[in-house]
Amino acid sequence: MQAKIRQLLKEKNAVLLAHNYQPPEIQALADICGDSLELSIRAADTDADVIVFCGVHFMAETASILSPQKTVLLPRTDAGCPMADMITPAALKARLAALPEMPVVTYVNSPAAVKALSTICCTSANAIEVVRSLAADELLMTPDRNLARNTARHTDKTIHLWEGCCPFHDLLSVADVQSARAAHPQALFIAHPECRPEVVEMADAALSTSGMMRFAAESDATEFIVGTEVGLLHPLASKNPGKTFYPASEKMLCLDMKKITPPDILTCLETMSGQVKVPEEIRVPALAAVDRMIALSR
Ligand code: 13P
Ligand code: SF4
Repeated sequence: MQAKIRQLLKEKNAVLLAHNYQPPEIQALADICGDSLELSIRAADTDADVIVFCGVHFMAETASILSPQKTVLLPRTDAGCPMADMITPAALKARLAALPEMPVVTYVNSPAAVKALSTICCTSANAIEVVRSLAADELLMTPDRNLARNTARHTDKTIHLWEGCCPFHDLLSVADVQSARAAHPQALFIAHPECRPEVVEMADAALSTSGMMRFAAESDATEFIVGTEVGLLHPLASKNPGKTFYPASEKMLCLDMKKITPPDILTCLETMSGQVKVPEEIRVPALAAVDRMIALSR
């Protein structure tokens, strides 16, 4: 299966991108694994004709926004993001109509049509930098209220919230972290900025998924409590032999990130199915918001 997939990727001049939460067998097949920001940049830079995106729908959309001339395939088109579904263009327009004019910072975990209405995008790796880059002192941040609150702690700007969240990061509680710390008193606690602010405040570091990978590799500590989706535990453990990683909560499991299997990738390459293409009238304004973010982060 692996050899067949690699052969088809070569024949079709295709690149396989996988998010850090993807199952081990998918990460093992991928040309590039990374966090949302790294994958966006790699999708923009690749000279492949085809991008096979092993992640969720908004990530494939971002690749299509950046590379309209390329064929972007999502091996399971039903792999979505519950947080991205917590905002629509109509709801955003209604909210903006009730606010004074201000920039809109939209997390990449959002529909393309919402990005198209936004001033600039951000990821968990660059949200603070993006907010600081704006001239305005007041802004709306969508759709993750936790990322917005965690970013607000690093700036004097007034940040209006959108009431969305990642259901799996949002359920990590202070009590969960306390009991993980009691069980592993030597461990450092690393948290994703999609976690609640009271949880992020307890953390030794708040980082994107790739930020966690780098932190674990560079740290002198040998034990870590990991406050993000449990899929990250595998790459953390396999890239850091001799270090031990504990989930902050076993409940942090995103099933959408586990939908794609190697047979799905094979079928999608054989039949070129699962194409994600953002229509031009949405892509062009969405690209402006994504490009502003990438220009800051390169
Ligand atoms: P990052 O990999 O950008 O930290 O994002 C986490 C996430 O929830 C992606 O869906
Ligand atoms: Fe969306 Fe959360 Fe799943 Fe990431 S982990 S894809 S934010 S639901």
